[in-house]
Amino acid sequence: MRHLVLFAQAVPVPRDLELPLPIGEWELKLILVLLFLVHIFFVNLMVGGSLLSVFFEILGLTRPRYDSLAKKIAETITVNKSLAVVLGVGPLLCINLVYTIHFYSANALTGYAWFAIIPLVIFAFLFAYLHKYTWQIWTGGRKRLHVITGGFSAFLFLCIPLIFLTNINLMLFPGKWAEVGGFFSSLQIGNVFPRYFHFLSASLALTGLFLAGWFGRRKFPREKHLPDFTRVELRRLFYRVAFYVSLAQLVFGPLLLFTLPGVGVTGTLYWVILSGAAVVLIVLHILWRQIKMPDEKISRLYIPIWMLFGVVVLLMGTGRHVYREACLVEHKQMIADETARFNAIELATQMSIRAGMGAGEALGGGMTGEKVFQNCAACHAVDRVLAAPSLREVYSLYKDNPAGIVAWSKNPGKKRPQFAPMPSFAHLGDEKLTLVADYILEIASGADSAKSEPSD
Ligand code: HEC
Repeated sequence: MRHLVLFAQAVPVPRDLELPLPIGEWELKLILVLLFLVHIFFVNLMVGGSLLSVFFEILGLTRPRYDSLAKKIAETITVNKSLAVVLGVGPLLCINLVYTIHFYSANALTGYAWFAIIPLVIFAFLFAYLHKYTWQIWTGGRKRLHVITGGFSAFLFLCIPLIFLTNINLMLFPGKWAEVGGFFSSLQIGNVFPRYFHFLSASLALTGLFLAGWFGRRKFPREKHLPDFTRVELRRLFYRVAFYVSLAQLVFGPLLLFTLPGVGVTGTLYWVILSGAAVVLIVLHILWRQIKMPDEKISRLYIPIWMLFGVVVLLMGTGRHVYREACLVEHKQMIADETARFNAIELATQMSIRAGMGAGEALGGGMTGEKVFQNCAACHAVDRVLAAPSLREVYSLYKDNPAGIVAWSKNPGKKRPQFAPMPSFAHLGDEKLTLVADYILEIASGADSAKSEPSD
């Protein structure tokens, strides 16, 4: 309890705008997770593709057949990038709806970097196209310029997910919001870098698997585009990429799990993530056997491998969601309380206005205890429990102690879990609070006499 109160003082708790959702919250979250996974899949292929393309182009400087391979990879990037962008709209809309307060707070706190995503995306795309279309033009003395162009586009493709990830990560830790001063300080919150490396190696692993199928498929005009490779060679090469990078995940995965801030770590999370890890071990085993397979058998398990990878991705995506929910439960409860509190105050003000007083007057203009009580009336009644304990209860607590009521009203605590916290009325001043305290004790002591004889 004490922990909660301390937490509540350190954490910014905005109130919610209680607008209805277009569909149920649960359905929206399901759609969010699924759409996100489809989006991130193409993001993975885009990032992994641009890294591998640059890598093979550099390798191609001394071994020319890798240069043609790099070129063919570069051709996939722009397509995957378009798919990633278009498919990013869905999850973005969903996250806006389900996590409005958290998402926008993080957006605002990461500031310029968040906005920088737009120009970064534009430049990353332009450079990716430039890299692709100048392949045959920038040769010889210009080859170096060409490699740098590809490298620059890959660098931009690396920056964009880092900004996104930092933002989505910051959103999970409202307790840190007050400390954050922009993007770079958000990098220190939670475990941004283990998450980022986990993402990068997932990108490379999935791209490896994708390219193993893309270049290894029977219909691929290999003789025309990559005559210096055999089909089996290409498949084995990219199975290798997928294998070794997934092996690296066995380091990055646990690193991520063990550096996760404790707030959201639950038993469920462990179950989900460890099942995912178990499937990864199976995939690794199959990939290893494929790599070692004689040439004629190597292609058989491609689809089953993808299905297993699909299970891994689904489990990891679920784990990610489970963690997010667990991180935010406490803060969401605080927002609900804050919203109830705001609604009660709003109601109180409206009641005062309806009772024939101006809002300003209701918030402190009156000179009698009865008038000052207009500030309390929306929540406190003599016998009934409205949004607060009845005045009978208050009376039993403060019978001979009006000063106690004054002190409480200036600095209310949080006692009863069933109510939202009471707002402070320190602005009314001791004089008016003393009037209202006497008034409350009077009307609550014997309701009849108080009703027939107004107290001034
Ligand atoms: C917006 C609703 C609201 C208004 C308006 C309001 N209160 Fe309260 N009050 C509460 C709630 C809720 C509690 C119980 C808080 C708790 O126990 O956590 C409470 C509790 C109290 C208590 C009991 C404290 C205790 O020790 O248990 C007193 C005394 C009190 N209010 C006085 C006042 C006075 C005086 C005013 C007007 C100046 C006022 N309240 C206006 C909501 C309100």
